[in-house]
Amino acid sequence: MALLELSGVTKRFGGLTAVNNVSFNVEAGEIFGLIGPNGAGKSTLLNCLAGLTKPNAGTIRFDGHDTTGMSADKMCRLGLGRTFQIPRPFPRMTAFENVVVSAAFGDPHLSRSGVSDRALEMIEYVEFPRPVGTLANHLNVVQLKRLDLARALASKPKLLLLDEFAAGLTPSELTDIAKLLRRIRDDGTTILMVEHVMRLILDLCGNLSVLQYGELIAHGNATTVAQDPRVREAYLGHNYIL
Ligand SMILES: Nc1ncnc2c1ncn2[C@@H]1O[C@H](COP(=O)(O)OP(=O)(O)OP(=O)(O)O)[C@@H](O)[C@H]1O
Ligand SMILES: [Mg+2]
Repeated sequence: MALLELSGVTKRFGGLTAVNNVSFNVEAGEIFGLIGPNGAGKSTLLNCLAGLTKPNAGTIRFDGHDTTGMSADKMCRLGLGRTFQIPRPFPRMTAFENVVVSAAFGDPHLSRSGVSDRALEMIEYVEFPRPVGTLANHLNVVQLKRLDLARALASKPKLLLLDEFAAGLTPSELTDIAKLLRRIRDDGTTILMVEHVMRLILDLCGNLSVLQYGELIAHGNATTVAQDPRVREAYLGHNYIL
């Protein structure tokens, strides 16, 4: 049984079908890539998986449960964490307080000091580069991304969804992030990453799915899929970053 199983997932916004009949599995322990041109439906699909929006059709199974249409808070408690394309911390709280909120929500049985310890552990784990007392609205993009990752990990997810985590990073930051994502996977968290930076996808992902106009146009081994002429035409020709 795969950790995540999508079958015929469809999401419409009025007359627009943003995600159309998408099926694939993510196995425990892998780093799985999801790519596609702008507007292909990638974030919408992640929102369906994370409980932020309900699919109109299809089923989603996560860790043995039918989670189709389940709310985001329930998905978090079941072991699903995510980062956002645009990080959304509580801006008037410190970095530390932001992670504390996630740690406390993720495990309501943790004591006060257990929550603090967990938050500090995660801040260290993602190598957050500023004092933990810095207000979130004083952080730059790179710092916000690491904070978003610490928040997602603080609830101890089995599956981590990343939405364009590498956008805006420099080549050396990309190398550091690749190392960190591999470590997260090696420490037991499966990763599904939506990404435009092909260098990162090809470096990290075993399997890759490609969306175009909401439909899955290719799926399989990442290197093979990246060579597929349909994929190159749909996507790599425009945004191929090595
Ligand atoms: N809440 C919404 N209401 C109406 N249309 C939406 C909504 N969210 C997304 N869409 C539309 O659904 C389509 C898919 O959008 P989505 O954000 O999922 O694409 P994406 O693949 O994540 O794109 P990008 O690479 O630019 O982030 C787009 O046409 C978008 O305009
Ligand atoms: Mg998106």
